[in-house]
Amino acid sequence: MKSILEGHPALACEVDKVAEVAGYLWQKGWAERNGGNITINVTECVDDAIRRMPAISEPKPIGITLHYLKGCYFFCKGTQKRMRDLARRPMENGSVIRICDDCASYVILADRPVVPTSEVASHLMVHDTLVAEGSQKRATLHTHPIELVAMSHAKKFLEKDVLTRLLWSMIPETKAFCPRGLGIVPYRMPSSVELAEATLAELKDYDVVMWEKHGVFAVGTDIMDAFDQVDVLTKSAQIYINARSMGFEPDGMTDVQMKELSVAFNLPK
Ligand code: 13P
Ligand code: ZN
Repeated sequence: MKSILEGHPALACEVDKVAEVAGYLWQKGWAERNGGNITINVTECVDDAIRRMPAISEPKPIGITLHYLKGCYFFCKGTQKRMRDLARRPMENGSVIRICDDCASYVILADRPVVPTSEVASHLMVHDTLVAEGSQKRATLHTHPIELVAMSHAKKFLEKDVLTRLLWSMIPETKAFCPRGLGIVPYRMPSSVELAEATLAELKDYDVVMWEKHGVFAVGTDIMDAFDQVDVLTKSAQIYINARSMGFEPDGMTDVQMKELSVAFNLPK
């Protein structure tokens, strides 16, 4: 069977990066069973040959109408598919979809009729806004990082900007590479439109969003960029937890040190 990746190097490059990151997610222990999902807006990688491809599924409703995504193409992890399998065989555990002209449904194009992630509403709602804003960001990632999810079980960490300030203060790089910080979405049913709407609202002010007692949602120019942001936040969470395990509350960088960093790196907050 000929893969859609053949003759489409730009698309193959994006799928390669997804496979690499899927392997990292598994190795880090953030992707138990089918945990987590990835979608990439690959519309720029699409040529006339792909545009002419027939659908291999019936149209499926998204659950919302997304006007800016009309005719857009996405690579999506399949629902119930494992990250560790996506790493080795991306086109068997994910698929390319096209958003239909009604902007409220999609069809699967290739390689196989792998149904996209159950979190497709959250992912596509975020992509819709990114396209509307003319953003260069094309990748969205949802994953279950152990330390960050553990911290979301404590009410004090769910208060506005408490976790952001704590994580920024553990190591200078965190603020430099995640300069708008970590937003919080109170618990919502996985895969619900309510979760999607709350995620979108938090992404207006933050780089990465925490889904209470569930996971995080990140956006990036490509999947490496989205992964890096979750990785730096998780590193800070690990430093905090390690210090607590050694029996002390870490001092954290001082406000003066943080301010100095913001000036040096020209950071927004
Ligand atoms: P999917 O297997 O449908 O992508 O779901 C995994 C997940 O983490 C849901 O929140
Ligand atoms: Zn999840």
